[in-house]
Amino acid sequence: MAGPILVFDSGVGGLSVVQALRRRQPEAALAYVCDNAMLPYGQREDAWLVQRIRAVCEAAVAASGCSALVVACNTASTLALDVLRECLAIPVVGTVPAIKPAARVSRTRHIGLLATSATVSGSYTLQLIQDFAADCRVTRVAADALVIEAERLVAGGMPDQATLRQALALLWDDPQLDTVVLGCTHFPLLAPWLAEAAPRQVTWIDSGEAIARRVAQVVTAAAPRRGNAPSFVTAPDECLYKGLATFGFAPPRLLYPA
Ligand code: DGL
Repeated sequence: MAGPILVFDSGVGGLSVVQALRRRQPEAALAYVCDNAMLPYGQREDAWLVQRIRAVCEAAVAASGCSALVVACNTASTLALDVLRECLAIPVVGTVPAIKPAARVSRTRHIGLLATSATVSGSYTLQLIQDFAADCRVTRVAADALVIEAERLVAGGMPDQATLRQALALLWDDPQLDTVVLGCTHFPLLAPWLAEAAPRQVTWIDSGEAIARRVAQVVTAAAPRRGNAPSFVTAPDECLYKGLATFGFAPPRLLYPA
């Protein structure tokens, strides 16, 4: 029988994608893996990340018996999608910053991209901007601090509003900017707090729904959902286990990536 859909991220960011997947395919079984031992990914070296992402995904795919892998991490996808597709025998769906839909909706043609350091400066992202938003001004803002705020939220704490305001500050220099891409899967988890920290209304866009649409096309026979979904981590962390449980995941198994 077909296995679950495995969702991978460095930490809890993939849970924003889990929410979108469940909205679209409530009946599909999901599994979750996060490389919390190496979180955050956004400021690590590219070549090291590619090797690490490959090792964690290979171990988790084997342990979960999944039918497809969703790389629910912009940082990992923009670096390692090709490698993962080469080494895994199952469909792999990635996540890239939603530049294209943002360019479609921006009236002022000034877009903000909020993502990790790796994603805002990655060649994949620059190419996306060239391909789909060539007629837009794109203000790219590295907001690695928000990754930690989202982790704190899922662990049961509250995001620090001053940190959020500081992370967003560079977006507001030009009053014309009307659309902000949340180019890290951690950030949609903070959506209400981000809106509160913004000095004016803008359109916030993330990739969750687009990924869920793509997964539904690619995975036509996912295993049906039954009870708690399996999860996997790379370091013990009781607060993270509680957070995963609130999203319906079973207590994680510890993975030892090669
Ligand atoms: N959630 C990940 C992303 O979408 C990155 C978080 C991290 O820096 O580890 O880019």
